[in-house]
Amino acid sequence: MKNTIVVGSQWGDEGKAKVIDVLAEHADVVIRFQGGANAGHTVVVGDQEFVFHLIPSAIMRPTKTCVIGNGVVLDPAQLLHEIEELEGRGFDVRGRLWLAENMQIVMPWHVQLDKLKEKAAGKNAIGTTGRGIGPAYVDKVARSGIRLVDLLDPEGLRLKVESILEEKNILFTKVYEAEALVAAPIVAQYLEYGRKLAPLVANTALLLEKAIKAGKPLLFEGAQGTILDVDHGTYPYVTSSNTIAGSACCGSGVGPTAIQSVIGVVKAYTTRVGNGPFPTELDGELGEKLRTWGGEFGATTGRPRRCGWFDAMVVRKAVRVNGITGLAITKVDVLDQLPEVQICVGYKIDGRLIEDLPVQMREFENVEPVLETMPGWMADTSKAVSWADLPNGAKRYLERLAELSGAPIAMVSVGPRRDQAIFLP
Ligand code: GDP
Ligand code: IMO
Ligand code: MG
Repeated sequence: MKNTIVVGSQWGDEGKAKVIDVLAEHADVVIRFQGGANAGHTVVVGDQEFVFHLIPSAIMRPTKTCVIGNGVVLDPAQLLHEIEELEGRGFDVRGRLWLAENMQIVMPWHVQLDKLKEKAAGKNAIGTTGRGIGPAYVDKVARSGIRLVDLLDPEGLRLKVESILEEKNILFTKVYEAEALVAAPIVAQYLEYGRKLAPLVANTALLLEKAIKAGKPLLFEGAQGTILDVDHGTYPYVTSSNTIAGSACCGSGVGPTAIQSVIGVVKAYTTRVGNGPFPTELDGELGEKLRTWGGEFGATTGRPRRCGWFDAMVVRKAVRVNGITGLAITKVDVLDQLPEVQICVGYKIDGRLIEDLPVQMREFENVEPVLETMPGWMADTSKAVSWADLPNGAKRYLERLAELSGAPIAMVSVGPRRDQAIFLP
């Protein structure tokens, strides 16, 4: 297997974790490189379901090494909770889960600020997951973040927290009229997290270099999706990290020349959680059906996901900005009962076709999707194990998605389980 980056090609929740779990069979090291506990990655193995927010989705495979890279913002309480849950269910992670020593930490003030800002924004809220992601990345770039190494340095951590809170507490009390945070208990709590996580802390860029030199295949696990990317997405209705394939290098310390392929995960339709434009959204009964059939409720917040038709404008952009070499199309089975399906093949504004997603959100709200209708297949795809097993209607639909998106199909997923995956040569 080649060193491969797996990214979401829409607005997140495309089924990346399922694809990672399947592809990890042929990889040695699986790496998360951006985002944080805003991600909700679901893996179904046998009759067990696991939802990971921080731990790479290959941890269920006992021989694989998992890395949380420097580009992630780490909530230590959430990570410890995930580790405990896995250990409680009989999966040992010690000795094969490694954390980048230079990774940023999500601190209590980040979570508090995320929630206060959203509340203050009212109807203009982004609809964040409330996990402190935005404020943590702001502080990283402002060079006032706390990193994992700092949790191993009692005196250093105390000085940093005290100095940071001097500034943050002015914001909390004077601007938001909220409670001030107290340094001492936070320092004690985070030093305790540091003590617990210390055996997992490593120079992960060095670890990855050694793996590459030993010819061990790497698999990079993206979080969120291309149109939630802070540069390329529907700004400001985006997350606060770069979610695209290029981010895998910055977020892990591996150079671009080490990567050979990029898999773009796409749902056979589209979903979005949180606010922001969504031209193919189905508000009525059909949207409700997709939500029910697809189990479209957020894996992190439980919020109902907004559902709509496949949008080829979105995926074409994803193919371009990620350099996607193959598509993994998921949840095809969710469309099995529809007599006809629609695809958005273009966007019009004031009756004129436009070439790419608008950058200005006011303009985006005026987009009219150009829809193409295809017959459905009205047959069960969930038991298909090869391309030949798929009904002709499903094959034609998938071929049309690939043609419009501009990338070949590498894999088709017809159910949440590991064995419900079809590979194309
Ligand atoms: P991620 O964030 O991209 O990893 O995706 P999520 O885990 O948030 O959401 C995907 C959901 O769809 C999960 O509940 C998966 O178990 C489920 N899933 C993944 N692939 C398929 C598929 O091909 N068919 C069906 N029906 N469900 C799938
Ligand atoms: P996975 O990895 C879907 C969305 C939020 C909100 C916006 C900003 O499971 O695909 P944030 O908390 O990141 O500041 O919220 O981004 N969002 C996701 N939507 N899947 C995700 O992750 C998401 N992570 C964040 O709903 O609209
Ligand atoms: Mg998810």
